[in-house]
Formats: sequence, C-alpha cells, structure tokens
Amino acid sequence: MRGRVTGTGSAVPEKVLTNFDIKKLVDTSDEWIVTRSGIKERRIASEGEFTSTFATRAALNALQMAGVTPEELDMIIVATVTPDFQFPSTACLVQSNIKAQNAAAFDVSAACSGFIYALSTADKFIRSGAVRKALVIGAEVLSRIVDWSDRNSCILFGDGAGAVVVEADSGDKGILDSMLKSDGSYWDLLYLPAPGSRNPASQKVLDERLMYLRMQGNDVFKLAVRAMEEAANQVLTAGGYSCDDIDLLVPHQANKRIIDAIGKRLGLPDEKVYVNLDRFGNTSAASIPIALDEANRTGRLHSGNLLLLDSFGGGLTWAAMSMIW
Ligand code: COA
Repeated sequence: MRGRVTGTGSAVPEKVLTNFDIKKLVDTSDEWIVTRSGIKERRIASEGEFTSTFATRAALNALQMAGVTPEELDMIIVATVTPDFQFPSTACLVQSNIKAQNAAAFDVSAACSGFIYALSTADKFIRSGAVRKALVIGAEVLSRIVDWSDRNSCILFGDGAGAVVVEADSGDKGILDSMLKSDGSYWDLLYLPAPGSRNPASQKVLDERLMYLRMQGNDVFKLAVRAMEEAANQVLTAGGYSCDDIDLLVPHQANKRIIDAIGKRLGLPDEKVYVNLDRFGNTSAASIPIALDEANRTGRLHSGNLLLLDSFGGGLTWAAMSMIW
C-alpha cells in the first residue's frame, strides 16, 4: 500500500502585484528583479482573505477532481508558516470550512519544504494502514509577514495555496520514496522573529519591525542549490532511478537561477522542469502544489510519468519525493 495523488487543486488571490508596482514601494526595477529572480509578478491577498481562505478553495478543487467527499477524509495536513492563528491549526479551520468531520487535522511547519514534509507524512500514515484518504495542502499569505520596505526580500514572495488528495493504492502508481532533511544550525538565515515565545507582542516588536521575516538571501541561495541537488539524487537512487528517467521536475519556486542551476546539475532539459514563479513568485509551502496542479490541469503530466518534487526552505529544511503519476 502506498499513497497516490488522485486529485490536485489550487487557489490564488485575484490581486496581481507586478514588479512595476513594487518599484513604487522600494528602490528597485523590473529589470533587476527579473534578472536576479525570474519573478515578474505575484498574487497578494486582499483584506478579508486569509491562509485558510485559499487553503479551503484549493482543497475543494482537489476533492472535486478526486471525486472524494469531505466526510471520507481521514486526515488533513496543512503546511504553512503563515497560519491564520498560532492556534488552532489552519488544518482545523479548513476541516470546519469543508465539513470533514471524520478527519484528524494538523499543521506542519517546515517553511518552503513544508508541502513535501506534509505529503510524506500522509504517505507514511497510509503505508501504516491507519489512513486511507488524506488531504494535503500547502498554503501561505506571506504578504502579511513581508517587510514592504526591505527591497532584499519583498520582491520575492507571494500568496496562494495548492492541495492534493492522496489515497491508499496497492498498484504501481503513487509515491515511491521521499527524503526529508534539516539543519537547524542555520535557523537564523531565514526566520520570523515575532510574535512567539521569544518575542511576544510588544512595542519593541513594532519598533524593531520584528514581525517581518528576515533573510540572508545570498547564503540561502548557495545552500539551496547544493541541498536540492543532494535531495533529488538521494531519492532517485533509493528507487533505482537516474536523472534520465525523470519526466517532470516540479521544484520549489524560489528563484529562477536556483531552478536553472538544479536543472543543469541534474542534466534536465528546460521542458522537463516546471516553472511558474514568473507569475506567482515564491509562495513557500504553496509553491509546489500550485505548480503541480497547473502541470496536471494543463496536460503536462501523463499516466506512468516519473515525477520528482524537490524543495528547500527555512529551518533549514530540504526534501525531495519521487512518484509515478
Ligand atoms: N533591487 C535593486 N537592487 C537590489 C535589490 C532590489 N530589489 N535587492 C538587493 N539589491 C542590491 C543589493 O543591495 C546589492 O547591492 P550592493 O552590491 O551595492 O551591496 C546588490 O543588489 C546585490 O545584492 P545580492 O544580495 O548579492 O543579490 P543576489 O544576486 O544574491 O540576489 C536574491 C538577491 C535575494 C534575489 C538572491 O540572493 C536569492 O534569491 N536568494 C535566495 C533567497 C530565497 O530563495 N529565499 C527563500 C528560500 S525558500
């Protein structure tokens, strides 16, 4: 028994923020952003829209494709670093919204690697026999933790959600292997200082702008390329595959230069690497499931394809997963 993805869905805000819009906020240019990151625009949540808003919409789309009703779900996992609340989990809010009263619901925090961490967790529950149908969501509203006066980071991020339904399957298709890795000694390369038990809400938090994410972009860049290559190779080797066998790589959409470097190191032609960050930016845990849903709905995935997911994020965390579509 293994987990097999039987439905995908995604949902992004309607509001588009282009590089030209960002140029009005900080000293930057469309040319700089496109050259350094590949991002042209991103989606930004409006007032009254939360992480659970997009998570719920993406979930309903995935359930519809899978032909699974909310009551049939045994488990809901949401990967996010921008939950609606510290608690309860965003997964519980989604559970309430879609009326999946029979599911256990919890969040996973592994930053941009969160979706692969969550999907791997669901797969393990399915393999153990404890769960038959799970809903796994990556959802973020990063625009609420981005410092819109910091040109080093605000150009990169966007909002949205992607979801998959995973079902127990005894056939040849489905999740083959996953590899999850972390190195907490790099925790301060990318983090959100407040609010939390270290920096609870206070005037100091506001004065020092601690409620906005901090990132050392250059260091993150170098570690990302190395880690994503390692994860991809390990997960392929575990299944007895080589890079030549990959039909589609869906990498975390952080930076086009990172994606190009991974593609090159794995020897993949451009058409085997899915890229949509030009339109959505880096949506953290949501980036892979949004890209997966797009690839699925636009006919880029065919039955029997070998698919590789590969990610990297704050923690530091990195992860890869192979599956037969
Ligand atoms: N517009 C114009 N200039 C900018 C700028 C912006 N938005 N942001 C930074 N700069 C400037 C810097 O101040 C620096 O100027 P200086 O040389 O005068 O000091 C110069 O551009 C180069 O900055 P640097 O940070 O070296 O650029 P870079 O090539 O590393 O690109 C990132 C910056 C953030 C795009 C890149 O490092 C990156 O994508 N890193 C990974 C981040 C990431 O993926 N995080 C999420 C992980 S999941």
